Amino acid sequence: MNNSLILGIESSCDDTSAAVLKGTQILANITHTQLVHEQYGGVVPELASRAHIEHIVPVVQRAIETASISLNEIDAIAFTQGPGLMGSLVVGTSFAKGLALAINKPLIGVHHMKAHILSHFISHEGMSAPSFPYLCLTVSGGHTQIVIVHDALNMEVIGKTIDDAAGEAFDKAAKMLGLPYPGGPLIDKLAVEGNPNAFCFSEPNIPDLNFSFSGLKTSILYFLKKEIAKNPDFVAVNLKDLCASIQHSITEILIKKLKKAQLQTGIRCIAVSGGVSVNSAMRKKLNAWHFEQPSISIHIAHPSFCTDNAAMIAIAGAFLYDAGIIHNQQITANAKLSW
Ligand code: KG4
Ligand code: ZN
Repeated sequence: MNNSLILGIESSCDDTSAAVLKGTQILANITHTQLVHEQYGGVVPELASRAHIEHIVPVVQRAIETASISLNEIDAIAFTQGPGLMGSLVVGTSFAKGLALAINKPLIGVHHMKAHILSHFISHEGMSAPSFPYLCLTVSGGHTQIVIVHDALNMEVIGKTIDDAAGEAFDKAAKMLGLPYPGGPLIDKLAVEGNPNAFCFSEPNIPDLNFSFSGLKTSILYFLKKEIAKNPDFVAVNLKDLCASIQHSITEILIKKLKKAQLQTGIRCIAVSGGVSVNSAMRKKLNAWHFEQPSISIHIAHPSFCTDNAAMIAIAGAFLYDAGIIHNQQITANAKLSW
């Protein structure tokens, strides 16, 4: 990779983030996470958009200051073009376009999910870059996919969810337990002291490499309804065991499909990205897999690069910039940006 200086901007959902990368090295990575959604049990698009408007300028300013660079030194501005929430994407896109025009620098529109996949190329202690081709399980709040990454610009989706994403399953299950949004990290925390085999939820029978989480969600809902009818304190009394069992069910679905994809493709380099890859049970299962089969290499990013961040947008932008791919002022945000 060349040593280009890339400013990355991320605003696809509820994190306003800006990063400066020189090659693969991070000079700054600043994220403002919107806490306003907690009380509503999920991201409220209108509030997310307004919060991005409020925070984008200070976040970018802090990134530039932290990197100790001047705007004129930047080679290109990479930003999340999509997919994501339209009102959120529009803020980052408009800001990036305006800044590019003002300082006369090239623009690079980045696909948010491809950036998650390429986050492994960021230089960071304890992280090693996968080698192409690798298999990437991308598990976030909006997506669950298994992708063959032939190279940085050539990716093939071989499996995806037919309904909810894995992160959504965590968050919806957490909501049923009365936990605030986003519930995934809380389930992870509470599960530490729980028994993963305390309760058993039905596993979906989905062919190929696709996923489904809506059946699991219904199974948890009916189970809780039945138990609460017998004992109104059921959730409070069993919270840790419930969290551990739900976490076990979701991560088993993920790891089983990933192992199936590995067998089918024969690819021995595996990466996991997206918010759910922070999950401790998921990490344990992946490490156990490597322990059982040392010829399989597992790449899990540092937690700060798993959840939404602008460093991954900058690294994905750097790959595009090195390949000579830049965009002009005609580029627009696209909530459903295709692969
Ligand atoms: O990648 P991400 O930050 O944003 C999207 O692009 O969606 O992923 C957010 C998702 C949320 O659903 C959140 O609950 C989940 O990742 N998540 C976790 C953990 N940390 C974040 N799920 C389970 N365990 C965690 N430790
Ligand atoms: Zn994301």
